[in-house]
Amino acid sequence: MKILVTGGAGYIGSVTVWELIEKGHSVFVFDNLSQGHRQAVHPGAELVVGDLADKQSIESFFKKHEGIEAVMHFASRALVGESMRYPDLYVRDNIVQAVNVLDAAVRFNVERFVLSSTANLFGRSSSKPIDEDAVIEPASPYGESKAMIERILKWYEKIFGIIFCSLRYFNAAGATKTLGEDHRPETHIIPLLLRAAAGKKSMFTIYGDDYPTPDGTCVRDYIHVQDLAAAHVLALDALDKGTCFYNLGNKRGFSVKEVIDTACRVTGRSIDTSVGPRRAGDPPVLIASSERFRKEFEWKPRFTDLESIISTAWEWHNRFPNGYQDD
Ligand SMILES: NC(=O)c1ccc[n+]([C@@H]2O[C@H](COP(=O)([O-])OP(=O)(O)OC[C@H]3O[C@@H](n4cnc5c(N)ncnc54)[C@H](O)[C@@H]3O)[C@@H](O)[C@H]2O)c1
Repeated sequence: MKILVTGGAGYIGSVTVWELIEKGHSVFVFDNLSQGHRQAVHPGAELVVGDLADKQSIESFFKKHEGIEAVMHFASRALVGESMRYPDLYVRDNIVQAVNVLDAAVRFNVERFVLSSTANLFGRSSSKPIDEDAVIEPASPYGESKAMIERILKWYEKIFGIIFCSLRYFNAAGATKTLGEDHRPETHIIPLLLRAAAGKKSMFTIYGDDYPTPDGTCVRDYIHVQDLAAAHVLALDALDKGTCFYNLGNKRGFSVKEVIDTACRVTGRSIDTSVGPRRAGDPPVLIASSERFRKEFEWKPRFTDLESIISTAWEWHNRFPNGYQDD
């Protein structure tokens, strides 16, 4: 299949592009490299540097690359904290830009769309893994932006016949041999801990230790980026059955303190920590269930324990201590 991957130079997109190419698909990456890296794009994929804010550039992409059969949409802002400070960016960059891609897809008769959504749609803290029937009640403008994209997609389905699959998950983590997490600035817990372990950062800040959880720190589930990429590729098949929504998770949640302890064990280093105030938009416990996806696709995460997930990230960190070398 001929597939356009928006944000395919980014963390999850680049690993998915790799999986797609391994499966024999023909892949085009559209990315403005604001967070993505040229070096992360599989050499077998064609990288088009462009911004989804620019309707013309996405239209000329479709004009030039006739016969695109599916869009996988990863490009977006994805930081809860940032969205609590600058909600306008999440309306402008996430919602409007998704609509720009959708409009171009409709114009060029592309009917299949996979949305990399977020489980942050479900903002209500829950001790049970959150399934697809949970109430959509976003915890932040970031979650809200993805909830709105899902709603817009429903209208594009009704009006233009777009078939879509939305995958909602919490924390992507880990790395492959060649591809890893390198956001600038980095705000994600595992790469920050590994930088602290490597001595590149003096202190790791825990945002709140007074939550109603066993050790007072927030509990989340972590899913390996390769397992996520495999799920995105399966979502393309899911479209054969029509529009669908799936939550993806790793069954078990880990507290921030447990993640810190595991990072210390994996790296064999100690990590200095300090406790800061709670971060706005952070519910105490969030774990996604992936029961439905597992049953329907026999999808089984390869990396189920936190130790193996962090080990892959540490190996990547040691192989690329300064991350990607952008030109
Ligand atoms: N990282 C996570 O833990 C996580 C969890 C849940 C959902 N998600 C979702 O997965 C997707 C990818 O996340 P990620 O962590 O790989 O992010 P990322 O920032 O690494 O990747 C996003 C990519 O999109 C590109 N991009 C951003 N705005 C663009 C624009 N206007 N035009 C063209 N390209 C643009 C960036 O350059 C980057 O390469 C996001 O949609 C995010 O909401 C991520």
